[in-house]
Amino acid sequence: MNLFADEKQNKLISDAKDYIAKLFEGHSDGHDLDHSLRVFVNAVSIALKEPPCDIEAVALAALLHDADDHKLFDTVNNQNARTFLESHDVDSDKIDFICTIINSVSFSRNRGKTPDSLEGKIVQDADRLDAMGAIGIARTFAYGGKHGRPLDGGIEHFHEKLLLLKDEMNTQTARELAESRHAFLEEFLARYEEENNMDI
Ligand code: NI
Repeated sequence: MNLFADEKQNKLISDAKDYIAKLFEGHSDGHDLDHSLRVFVNAVSIALKEPPCDIEAVALAALLHDADDHKLFDTVNNQNARTFLESHDVDSDKIDFICTIINSVSFSRNRGKTPDSLEGKIVQDADRLDAMGAIGIARTFAYGGKHGRPLDGGIEHFHEKLLLLKDEMNTQTARELAESRHAFLEEFLARYEEENNMDI
């Protein structure tokens, strides 16, 4: 998909995809390349429906939002994201803006906090949407399996996090997208409880 009329902008986005593909090589706990690509698609889809905003910043922040995730990388001050942006001559105010967006995305670090900018709100919504619906379920059990967590631990995670996300969306567009993903989570939970019956 060519997002921008300007070829230079499109090249920047495709270079960012190549950069994170290299960065995430070998990682597969749900904070991997596919997650970042889905967050990018979610974020751009939301941005196109919301009032005009800096779509390039939204796209880059979404693609780079886990590039310095502390669970995967030992970097400070968004070094991986900055390295990419600096090497592509993005101006320094814009780099700071993108890093501010990235730092406002994390669920655990930002519980209850709303990003200041519309761009930040959009990327946060996009990341949260990827923890809902069928993808959210798949990611929960993939993570649980990797960390030796029994299935019921995954179900607990639904109640601690996934089911709360619907009410934490910032934008109207994401609130609408979250509805059907939330409904699917509830449908899955009901079936799980029905089939997880240990009594004969
Ligand atoms: Ni994420």
